[in-house]
Amino acid sequence: MFTSSTREIPKATAVPRHLAIIMDGNGRWAKQRFLPRVAGHRRGVETVRDVIRACAERGIGYLTLFAFSSENWRRPADEVSVLQQLFRTALEQEVEKLRRNGIRLRVIGNLEPFGEKIVDLVREAEASTAVNDRLTLTIAANYGGRWDLLQAMNRLVAAHPENAGRYEEADLVPYLALNYAPEPDLFIRTGGEERISNFLLWHLAYTELFFTDTLWPDFDAAALDAAIASYASRERRFGRTSEQLGDAPRPADPAVSAGETASHRRLA
Ligand code: IPE
Ligand code: IPE
Ligand code: MG
Repeated sequence: MFTSSTREIPKATAVPRHLAIIMDGNGRWAKQRFLPRVAGHRRGVETVRDVIRACAERGIGYLTLFAFSSENWRRPADEVSVLQQLFRTALEQEVEKLRRNGIRLRVIGNLEPFGEKIVDLVREAEASTAVNDRLTLTIAANYGGRWDLLQAMNRLVAAHPENAGRYEEADLVPYLALNYAPEPDLFIRTGGEERISNFLLWHLAYTELFFTDTLWPDFDAAALDAAIASYASRERRFGRTSEQLGDAPRPADPAVSAGETASHRRLA
């Protein structure tokens, strides 16, 4: 079980352990070039490949990519269908390369509406990469933060009806879709919008947020390094004062987790 940012103080590392990205701006990238929106989505898949490689090289342990939100069904049917086709093609063609490169693939979200074929491909891909531990890549597909909280709550209540009214954080977390990952240290949204768009509502509680105007197809290793540099310069206080961060850890403070030293609480 990973540290909860609201119950303990997570250890800070110069490179994020978990990076979560809203890959936005494909449509505008295409529009700038007088191309159909789907051309932007196709180019966006290439960026996904490059960013996975860059994250693995930088020692990031978990990368979570928002590929399709529970609200993206509101888009024109032909765009939704191309996005599903791209997802299916990626599952058919890219998984072997992930497997060879030590990458574990997980998919979170309500997959049923995508149909049986995609559900089967996802289960096969997850099984064939399950032993890998260099980087865990999570694709959020038909994912919504509210969907996640509700499905977790419903499953918790079904499993432990006797505890109704007394559930705690630690009871709910195992039922959330990302139960195998630490909370994201860094969140990046490309494409200029500064909103969460129903992504990881629970998990972003203390995540450092980074917004960039760069459109997803233009995002590259240098842009990733700029986001990581911004992250590393931040003071993560988790509710404490800045002065407290300079102090030696106080054993009397139950929020200070064992083994934490002042030096790695400030990242710069
Ligand atoms: C993100 O790019 C991809 C998905 C949401 C699937 P957009 O398609 O949202 O691109 P913009 O925001 O219209 O430029
Ligand atoms: C968020 O992007 C979802 C994904 C990147 C998958 P959107 O482009 O759908 O977000 P809004 O509609 O601008 O908030
Ligand atoms: Mg968008």
